[in-house]
Amino acid sequence: MAKMEVKTSLLDNMIGVGDMVLLEPLNEESFIDNLKKRFDHNEIYTYIGSVVISVNPYRSLPIYSPEKVEDYRNRNFYELSPHIFALSDEAYRSLRDQDKDQCILITGESGAGKTEASKLVMSYVAAVCGKGAEVNQVKEQLLQSNPVLEAFGNAKTVRNDNSSRFGKYMDIEFDFKGDPLGGVISNYLLEKSRVVKQPRGERNFHIFYQLLSGASEDLLYKLRLERDFSRYNYLSLDSAKVNGVDDAANFRTVRNAMQIVGFMDHEAQSVLEVIAAVLKLGNIEFKPESRVNGLDESKIKDKNELKEICELTGIDQSVLERAFSFRTVEAKQEKVSTTLNVAQAYYARDALAKNLYSRLFSWLVNRINESIKAQTKVRKKVMGVLDIYGFEIFEDNSFEQFIINYCNEKLQQIFIELTLKEEQEEYIREDIEWTHIDYFNNAVICDLIENNTNGILAMLDEECLRPGTVTDETFLEKLNQVCATHQHFESRMSKCSRFLNDTSLPHSCFRIQHYAGKVMYQVEGFVDKNNDLLYRDLSQAMWKASHSLIKALFPEGNPAKINLKRPPTAGSQFKASVATLMKNLQTKNPNYIRCIKPNDKKAAHIFNDALVCHQIRYLGLLENVRVRRAGYAFRQAYEPCLERYKMLCKQTWPHWKGPARAGVEVLFNELEFPVEEYSFGRSKIFIRNPRTLFKLEDLRKRRLEDLATLIQKIFRGWKCRTHFLLMKKSQIVIAAWYRRYSQQKKYQQIKSSAIVIQSFIRGWKARKILRELKHEKRCQEAVTTIAAFWHGTQVRREYRKFFRANAGKKIYEFTLQRIVQKYFLEMKNKMPSLSPIDKNWPARPYLFLDSTHKELKRIFHLWRCKKYRDQFTDQRKLIYEEKLEASELFKDKKALYPSSVGQPFQGAYLEISKDPKYKKLKDAIEEKIIIAEVVNKVNRANGKCASRIFLLTNNNLLLADQKSGHIKSEVPLGDVTKVSMSSQNDGFFAVHLKEGSGAASKGDFLFSSDHLIEMATKLYRTTLSQTKQKLNIEISDEFLVQFRQDKVCVKFIQGNQKNGSVPTCKRKNNRLLEVAVP
Ligand SMILES: Nc1ncnc2c1ncn2[C@@H]1O[C@H](COP(=O)(O)OP(=O)(O)OP(=O)(O)O)[C@@H](O)[C@H]1O
Ligand SMILES: [Mg+2]
Repeated sequence: MAKMEVKTSLLDNMIGVGDMVLLEPLNEESFIDNLKKRFDHNEIYTYIGSVVISVNPYRSLPIYSPEKVEDYRNRNFYELSPHIFALSDEAYRSLRDQDKDQCILITGESGAGKTEASKLVMSYVAAVCGKGAEVNQVKEQLLQSNPVLEAFGNAKTVRNDNSSRFGKYMDIEFDFKGDPLGGVISNYLLEKSRVVKQPRGERNFHIFYQLLSGASEDLLYKLRLERDFSRYNYLSLDSAKVNGVDDAANFRTVRNAMQIVGFMDHEAQSVLEVIAAVLKLGNIEFKPESRVNGLDESKIKDKNELKEICELTGIDQSVLERAFSFRTVEAKQEKVSTTLNVAQAYYARDALAKNLYSRLFSWLVNRINESIKAQTKVRKKVMGVLDIYGFEIFEDNSFEQFIINYCNEKLQQIFIELTLKEEQEEYIREDIEWTHIDYFNNAVICDLIENNTNGILAMLDEECLRPGTVTDETFLEKLNQVCATHQHFESRMSKCSRFLNDTSLPHSCFRIQHYAGKVMYQVEGFVDKNNDLLYRDLSQAMWKASHSLIKALFPEGNPAKINLKRPPTAGSQFKASVATLMKNLQTKNPNYIRCIKPNDKKAAHIFNDALVCHQIRYLGLLENVRVRRAGYAFRQAYEPCLERYKMLCKQTWPHWKGPARAGVEVLFNELEFPVEEYSFGRSKIFIRNPRTLFKLEDLRKRRLEDLATLIQKIFRGWKCRTHFLLMKKSQIVIAAWYRRYSQQKKYQQIKSSAIVIQSFIRGWKARKILRELKHEKRCQEAVTTIAAFWHGTQVRREYRKFFRANAGKKIYEFTLQRIVQKYFLEMKNKMPSLSPIDKNWPARPYLFLDSTHKELKRIFHLWRCKKYRDQFTDQRKLIYEEKLEASELFKDKKALYPSSVGQPFQGAYLEISKDPKYKKLKDAIEEKIIIAEVVNKVNRANGKCASRIFLLTNNNLLLADQKSGHIKSEVPLGDVTKVSMSSQNDGFFAVHLKEGSGAASKGDFLFSSDHLIEMATKLYRTTLSQTKQKLNIEISDEFLVQFRQDKVCVKFIQGNQKNGSVPTCKRKNNRLLEVAVP
């Protein structure tokens, strides 16, 4: 913002004058003085209106920094001191905002700074135009095309260490926003003769030196090159090194730039291979060889170099060798081969080298174009930058200089066309009063060169196409005849012998008075260079190369496409391309940068007046200023002018109804500018002085600010008003809500206070009533009490005599009753659990209740036992009955009993019915089986044990073989008299049988079983239920059994056995059987 307010102008802190239009007095001397003064103060740029004069400072100045770019960005052209950036900005903005295609024409002689200027313009535009990754890549590619083209197309000359040896015109394309889209480069006639020969003090193209200095050993080896410049005939040695130039570093820059521009690695490699091939071509030498028929013939001296070229390019060595020795001419299906002599062979070699290089250069330009071309098809705006070789005068000027200078003539011509002539013609057209200014129009010189019938180029072409012997001399003769009378053509031998005695003009030369000075051209080489002949044998040999790039460079070598027509000559090609260029430039809005070289020494701080004066003269700068001054600095059509400035006058703002011209008139009258400051043309207003324009612009800017303020004012007012109304509305809403809230609060307070007061009053009233009631009640109570006492006293007095007799008994009974009552109530709470085995019983409270207490305990126990029993099912009851029976029979009698208590009685341990082994056994028994168990039966004879199945049914006791299930004995229960067993912890038991019964023939049984208690119990119960008689069970450690006829005593001895804890049984003798138990 602050920056905007600083009003700057070209006129501020001006050194000399920044715009030559303001120079007073105006003459050559003051013009040069002004330039010099500014140059001495590092002001290298000066304007003539919108034309920028740039004086080469030959040193780097701190005026191209990014800050400077920002300074000049979007500023009025005349606002800051003259600068190339101001012109670039003006051109860019006019392209972006007004949709006008632009061209930047940079002219000046060699070394004046054209190429630098073009780069500055490009870098400025790149800095200010759009941003973003894609745009930046386009910019980078556009900028990086410069180092590549400079390496291949620039060379050190005596005038310039980095002289452009080709013309370049670059169109930068933008989209509607002003973002760069891409570009197209056109190149004009490369000075290819430099490839094979350089004037003294000059070098070949930079790339050769860069390659040899900068390439790695590996790359050099691959290219079959050596680092030493002196190895190559095509490289001039006297000035191989240029001060301040690092070829090796530049080589890296170029390779990097190639990469950025989009060259593939293999493409870059191919390019370097072509360069190597060109260098090596120069080393091929020929020696004469005479043939028998007397014709001259040549032979390659050393074939090594040829071999390496062929290896590099993939050409058959014999093909190339033949192409250097023969020339085939084809005419009407006839082929004639002639041998080449040494000179012709050298000519052929050089022609090949030149062609290879110049075609490579054109290929490079096309390849770059491919990379940088715009990717979209949208409409493009174009900014063209023209950097063409400058006008040059050497000691020896040849065809190239002639062509270059012709090009410069054409540029001068277009400058004249577009500025001087156009300007004056416009005044006439617009009917503005005008005094004609004389200026030199170089159209005559252009005509001398390019006229189709008798121009020099036409003569040259004619000579080249003419049959018969054609030499440079015959060409000169022709010129002498045709152009002799032309006032800008000079020749010693011309028809009119004006220059007969001019010794400065050799016979083999002609001289042209160019707009920039006289130049003497050596006629030697004109015909050859114009013909630009490359023997077909060579182009065919090249086409045969396996190197794809080289093959592509020589499409005419394809035998299938033989074209017998002569290719257009170099001169006519150039003329045509220059004509196209001029046409192109004429469609664009021109911006001029006129470069001036201050000295011939490439040195800083030196300003050579004479040299500058010469350039000013031939550039016609003074005339340029005069025309600007005599005329009007600025003009504009009425409509846009009125549109732009209408806000400066009340009548025209905001709308002017009448014709635009009348509006502008009203406007200018209102502004009270001096009448001589402006003039009304037919369609345009002309403003004489730039200052008037600045003033207009200033007024407009101020007025715009006022208008902006007005808009701002109204907008702010509107904004504040709406804001206020909103606030007001909000305030009302808030107030309403607040009032409601506060009233609510107040009401609630009053309400709660009323309740408090009410409650106090009610309380007070109630208390008062209560007090009265209490008093009343107390009075009644007192009365009752008194009455009761009185009655009591009366009754007692009356009944005293009846009471005393039974009082003691009554009290005793009553007390006893109370105590018993209390006892039962307490007992109720102290009852023990319902478990029959619970032994707890509360302590007795009174001695006299002892028996009651015990009886109560018994009843309770019985009751809880009954309760417990009631829970049993019939089956369980049976089990418990059995267990109970067992307990009655064996408890405290048999030591085995306690261990049996926990074992449930199962009875059928053997599952006779399920086991198929015992099917027979099962079938034999019809009754219910009570016990089925394996027991050990003690052998009656020896006391040894044998397993038997023991079965008890309702009526019988059966023994069966364990394996077969065969029944061995069957005893009816009625025959069982007794069961005996020890009191010890063993399972032996004897079953005594009734004497004389059927089963008793063998005598009693002695068994041992793990379930003795169960078996004995079950046997007892079954017998009881069947026979209604109690089975006798004898428990004794010594009892008698009947074994057949013997009565044997079974004696149980404790702790005397050998087999540990297992009881053993032993028949001692007829009378004794000992059982050892643990
Ligand atoms: N603005 C500048 N600031 C500093 N040095 C400059 C400037 N312009 C030119 N030079 C110097 O002058 C030299 C020659 O400039 P440049 O190559 O642009 O000349 P040219 O007009 O293109 O010549 P040619 O016609 O031979 O190509 C540059 O190499 C550079 O050293
Ligand atoms: Mg240049």
